[in-house]
Amino acid sequence: PVTTVPESPAAAIGPTYKDTKPKATVSTPVHHENVHILPQTPQLIALLTMIRDKNTVRADFIFYSNRIIRLLVEEGLNHLPVISHPVTTPTGRIYSGVKFEGKICGVSIMRAGEAMEQGLRDCCRSVRIGKILIQRDEETCKPRLFYDKLPEDIADRFVLLLDPMFATGGSATMAVEVLISRGVPEERILFLNLIASPEGINGFATKFPKLRVITAFVDQGLNEKNYIIPGLGDFGDRYYCI
Ligand code: URA
Repeated sequence: PVTTVPESPAAAIGPTYKDTKPKATVSTPVHHENVHILPQTPQLIALLTMIRDKNTVRADFIFYSNRIIRLLVEEGLNHLPVISHPVTTPTGRIYSGVKFEGKICGVSIMRAGEAMEQGLRDCCRSVRIGKILIQRDEETCKPRLFYDKLPEDIADRFVLLLDPMFATGGSATMAVEVLISRGVPEERILFLNLIASPEGINGFATKFPKLRVITAFVDQGLNEKNYIIPGLGDFGDRYYCI
C-alpha cells in the first residue's frame, strides 16, 4: 500500500524534537538484558532517516551507513574487558588509565555483513576478519552454511559478528552455532546490526541469553517476505549495487 508521510516536517524539528518524536523514530522497546540499543540521539535518527529514504542515492547510502556502523563498532568495543594501565603524560603526571584485554576478531555474514568490515578496521588496526556465507537452501527453504573462513585461534578471541539487518535471525542463529562449534563461548560473541526486528531480537535473546546484541534501532516488525518494516529494503543491494 502507498503510505503518506504522517507528520509535517516542521513538527519534528527544533528544540522540541525530543518531546514530539514521530512514532517511526522511536525504537520498539525490548526487555532483554543482553540487547543494547544505541543512544537514540537526534543525530542517529537523522542518519537512519537518510538510509531508510528510498530516494537516497548509493554514495549517500554508503556514507551514512558507514557513520552508523562506526557508532555500532565503538559501542561494541565498550563491551570488551579492560585492565588497569597507568601511563605517564608529557607533563610528568600519572594518568591511571586502562587498556583492552584480550584478542578480538570480526566475522561478517556475507554479503551484506562485509559492508561493516571497514568500520571495524577503522577502529581496530590489523584486526583479523573471518567470513561466513549462509544462504537459503532452495529445496528445504532453510538457511544452509555454504562457506566459512575463520581465524584458526577464534576460540581465544572475542568475536564481533557483523550483519546489518537482523530480520528473522535465521542466518545469525546459524552463524552463532558455527562460532560455538569452533569453541567460541557464547558470552564472547557480540552481534552488531543496524536495524533489528522485534521477532529476531526476541527469538535470539532467548536462544542465546549470554550473547550480546548491539543494534542502532529495533523496528516495527517483518512483512510477508521477511523484510524489516519500515526498514530500508535490501541493504546489500543498496550498498553494493549501482
Ligand atoms: N535483509 C535486508 O537487507 N533487509 C531486510 O529488511 C531484511 C533482511
